[in-house]
Amino acid sequence: MSQEITRFKESKDQLFQPVKFEEPRGVFVSTYGCQMNVNDSDRMISLLEMLNYTPVQQPKDAALIIINSCSVREKPVHKVHSEVGRYRKLKLTKPDLLVGVAGCVAQQEKDQLLKDLPAIDFVLGPDNIDSLPEIVSKLHKAPEERLSAARFKHQEAYHVQTLVQNPGVSTFVNITKGCDNFCTFCVVPYTRGRERSRPYKQLVEDINKLTSRGVKEVTLLGQNVNSYTSDCGVNFANLLKGLCEDTDIKRIRYSTSHPKDFTEELIKISADYRDKICEFIHLPVQSGNTEILAKMNRGYSREDYLEKVDKIFDYLPGASLSTDIIVGFPGETEQQFNDTLSLIDRVPYESIYAFKYSPRPFTKAAKWEDHLSEEEKSDRLHRLFEKHKIIAHKLCEKYDDQEFEVLVEKRDEDRGNWSGRTTHNKVVNFVGGENLVGKFVKVKILKAFPLTLRGEFVSEY
Ligand code: 5AD
Ligand code: SF4
Repeated sequence: MSQEITRFKESKDQLFQPVKFEEPRGVFVSTYGCQMNVNDSDRMISLLEMLNYTPVQQPKDAALIIINSCSVREKPVHKVHSEVGRYRKLKLTKPDLLVGVAGCVAQQEKDQLLKDLPAIDFVLGPDNIDSLPEIVSKLHKAPEERLSAARFKHQEAYHVQTLVQNPGVSTFVNITKGCDNFCTFCVVPYTRGRERSRPYKQLVEDINKLTSRGVKEVTLLGQNVNSYTSDCGVNFANLLKGLCEDTDIKRIRYSTSHPKDFTEELIKISADYRDKICEFIHLPVQSGNTEILAKMNRGYSREDYLEKVDKIFDYLPGASLSTDIIVGFPGETEQQFNDTLSLIDRVPYESIYAFKYSPRPFTKAAKWEDHLSEEEKSDRLHRLFEKHKIIAHKLCEKYDDQEFEVLVEKRDEDRGNWSGRTTHNKVVNFVGGENLVGKFVKVKILKAFPLTLRGEFVSEY
């Protein structure tokens, strides 16, 4: 295996000739992290179809393996090393196998990954996904090469967006990429670059294409969707309104929101178009204590956050909320942690995603000295989850015996269930009815659990 690493440069469009394999070849993608990574993996698979790759479920059946990594939390580099270790053994029996690392770890580590792990043939940053067919074609023609593609493309707006060719009933659409907020704990601005928004007209066109392929629901994705600003000055609230009016999409979700940019205009538009804009808002608070929020550089206080939550319920009394929380941020006292506990008493979150703080490279907070011990962080996380478990059980009782509109996404043949979601993002598993995938149906809830609802089919809409 060659140790030479080449910086990948895109050919001009007309010079690039993708290889086209006569027989289909397997691609296995291992995906970590957020919805954006899930969408990036789907887009990679769609792009590779151009070369005649087809997705497989097992690494042993693949001619190409891509690890789409995440570096937001945990020990991401470590995970990549151990997964590549497994594929190194596979390469001994399949010398033509190509292995690539994509996503935020690839962006963060770049050539270092190729230097440390000779079994990797290429690294691919999140800004370079559209170059994947060219990279794989190059490696096929020159298998001794090792390519590094982790350059940010500093376009003003980002235009290239590969839509997934075979989307399901519900799919993702990126509206922004990157982030300019520099929360002091977060590596994303360093791995995904500066924030860029996609042009409004292009989003309308994409969503029209998706609806013509059978999509009923889209989730608009961005690190901070609320700061979307199009080339023609359309803000996020008006993007939602425009998509409701100018496309045939039936339902719109979005993630992730930033409380500092979550405006009353957006809440009003969500209420006006509640037949299409889902009544579910993921609003990461991170901490219930104003001093910690300031140290995190979040741009809002506990009171500001609570005011926004109250506004949401003024306009949308039936809304469902979820949040992200970090426990054990550097210097967090027991009293400051108690403020987070009291916040979850005050805000009726149906689900919370809570994490122990972990220092990330390049970030400000990683350089501070007042880090808490692992035991303290684990203890706080445990107490937070225990408290929320009781709250979530109480909150879900309101769904019992009610009827809801459900968009049916799939059938689970083993259990004989249909599965879909309500506007509140509650997963509903139910029995009864025929040929329901892609349809809106009325379901009566028989038993509500904190994460899922169980019910029976009533009628089609
Ligand atoms: N430590 C722990 N959690 C983090 N998150 C982001 N960075 C860190 C970190 N360094 C969490 C935040 C964010 C979610 C996607 O991941 O809660 O909202
Ligand atoms: Fe990270 Fe903060 Fe940007 Fe979210 S808003 S991606 S937490 S820097």
